[in-house]
Amino acid sequence: MTIRFDGQVAIVTGAGNGLGRAHALALAARGAKVVVNDLGGAADGTGASSAAARDVVEVIEAAGGEAIANGANVAKFEEVQAMAEQAMARWGRIDILVNNAGILRDKSFSKMDLADFALVSDVHLTGSVNCTKAVWDIMREQQYGRIVMTTSSSGMYGNFGQSNYGAAKMGVLGLMNTLVIEGEKANIRINALAPGAATRMTEDLLQEEVKQLLTVEPVAEAMIVLCHADAPNHCILNAQAGSYSVTRLVESQGMWLPKDKQTAEEIVAHWDYIADHTGEKVMKNGGEHVMKMVMLAAKGLGVA
Ligand code: NAI
Repeated sequence: MTIRFDGQVAIVTGAGNGLGRAHALALAARGAKVVVNDLGGAADGTGASSAAARDVVEVIEAAGGEAIANGANVAKFEEVQAMAEQAMARWGRIDILVNNAGILRDKSFSKMDLADFALVSDVHLTGSVNCTKAVWDIMREQQYGRIVMTTSSSGMYGNFGQSNYGAAKMGVLGLMNTLVIEGEKANIRINALAPGAATRMTEDLLQEEVKQLLTVEPVAEAMIVLCHADAPNHCILNAQAGSYSVTRLVESQGMWLPKDKQTAEEIVAHWDYIADHTGEKVMKNGGEHVMKMVMLAAKGLGVA
């Protein structure tokens, strides 16, 4: 089976460089028409230029594909809405959105300016919200949509100096969790990619030998898996150096404490059991979690 996107339209944000460029090229090579979005600033978000996006469009066209360049800043909803309108005017549908645009403003939390916290959050989290909002009703009407969020191990597990970035990258997973539920009836699937690649963003962080393993193409292939017709839904796929894995948020079985034991001291006394991850479970949604907690209580009280 070869995965193809003939007749489909994709928007890739931040597609002028690095991973986004590889995503746009991979989608186009498999038949998608692509909106190559890029604000064209530096890795810290300063400046703007349409050259990078135009270059990617040229590469796609030279290979016989179709693409348009777009310079919207994902943090500005009006610009993003105009981008969606541009795609609709040209091709009449939007099947895929890859929220990839990003910047870094690393500093330890004590030295971090709140403006740098807000800016990073604006681009990664609000940017993903804006782009998703701009295509959401279009996808609902089409009864088809595939959305990829870009998260990071820095968000899921933490990384020194990246409190702003990590919070925003975990935020997009929260956004995904609810959109998966709201998009299900309209055949909209949302997944998250946690990439690793040698790009200008990671230039200063990686050693030379490691960089050679961390090419962008194997990551773009993982993105393809997350946005094709038979894509999974609600999946966090890690991809770097040609290695692939899946991350899930799990909950311990937990326990109910009787009324006279619902105190901080008793919770501490039962910590080993409460935090024991034997038999841990992935919750489908918030409702399933609430039901589980209430059922533990009902069983403890002998009414279930
Ligand atoms: P990159 O710096 O090479 O590319 C990011 C692109 O986003 C740039 O072309 C930039 O102009 C564009 N961009 C930045 N702000 C924008 C805005 N407001 N509107 C539109 N475009 C904007 O970075 P890279 O490494 O390719 O990162 C891509 C995504 O992958 C980011 O979301 C990043 O956080 C994420 N990521 C990357 C990792 C890596 O190892 N490279 C690791 C984990 C996550």
